[in-house]
Amino acid sequence: MKLEDIAKKMCAKGKGILAADESTGTMDKRLKSVGAESTEKNRLHFRETLFTSDAMKNYIGGVILFDETIRQKTSAGISVPELLEKNNSIVGIKVDKGAKQLAGSPEETVTEGLDGLRERLNEYYKLGARFTKWRAVYNIGGKYPSTQSIKSNAHALARYASMVQEANMVPIVEPEVLMDGNHDIDTCYKTTTNVLNECYNELAIQKVSLKGTVLKPNMIVPGTKSSERVTSEEIAKKTLDCLKKNVPSEVPGIAFLSGGQSELEASKNLDSINKINDTSFLITFSYGRALQQSALKTWSKEMNDTKAIHKIFNHRANMNGLASKGEWSQSLEI
Ligand code: 13P
Repeated sequence: MKLEDIAKKMCAKGKGILAADESTGTMDKRLKSVGAESTEKNRLHFRETLFTSDAMKNYIGGVILFDETIRQKTSAGISVPELLEKNNSIVGIKVDKGAKQLAGSPEETVTEGLDGLRERLNEYYKLGARFTKWRAVYNIGGKYPSTQSIKSNAHALARYASMVQEANMVPIVEPEVLMDGNHDIDTCYKTTTNVLNECYNELAIQKVSLKGTVLKPNMIVPGTKSSERVTSEEIAKKTLDCLKKNVPSEVPGIAFLSGGQSELEASKNLDSINKINDTSFLITFSYGRALQQSALKTWSKEMNDTKAIHKIFNHRANMNGLASKGEWSQSLEI
């Protein structure tokens, strides 16, 4: 398949991406928060339970895996990528090595992982991956994010994207402006504008074909500690406006991260955006927490109650699938 077609399939109307690529450290925290032990077996058990649900066929176009998971075998004896392919989901892999302290601006981070990336990409391709993810992180507060952070992260994202296309996979470009802080929605808008602009400057310099990419941005929202109250419609209006002004129209798909929004907020906001989407972008979800939280809680109570876990996960994925078409409504929530 051409990169452009893979990108479109990942973001097809009614479908989105499941971000199940939490690193082992992050999984330790997530499992601990629900009282479960983070062993390799448990991490696979939870993820395999999600991957065998009906939601996969109906609402999930692609799944982002972590290095550990792409190499694991399911209880049915097939590999995790084989299980996903059987359900018509495209296999993705997180390839960055995490956000590390930025020299010269130690309160900020730059995402690392370019060294040896070409070799790792070739291996992931052989394991079944057809798209990848790299996440850059920006903090709002005082003088941050600095120009240094914006430029360094954009450069790394573009070098990554270029190498991924060389390896015949679709790069998800994820510049995440964090929700942490007491900033207002307009500060989030301005910061995201600067971040996106620099990313697309660098992507052009690195000769990345935008048609074969997917953008994974944050929505335009006030900080979690802000006293500002905004409606979902305002979030949608500002988010769409920011994307229209700063994302070149060749980009086929935009798949949002949830970034700490509740499951309900994430569905509602995505729906509001799609209700007014007058662009050519396929706009959908690439959620981690906002897809998995309730399913994880149910799993932690009774790991082998597959039926109950599937019910919860199918519902959440269905709600987001509807939101990707602007067809979600509060009355459909259980
Ligand atoms: P959240 O939806 O939990 O923010 O995770 C998405 C993701 O992949 C962050 O890199």
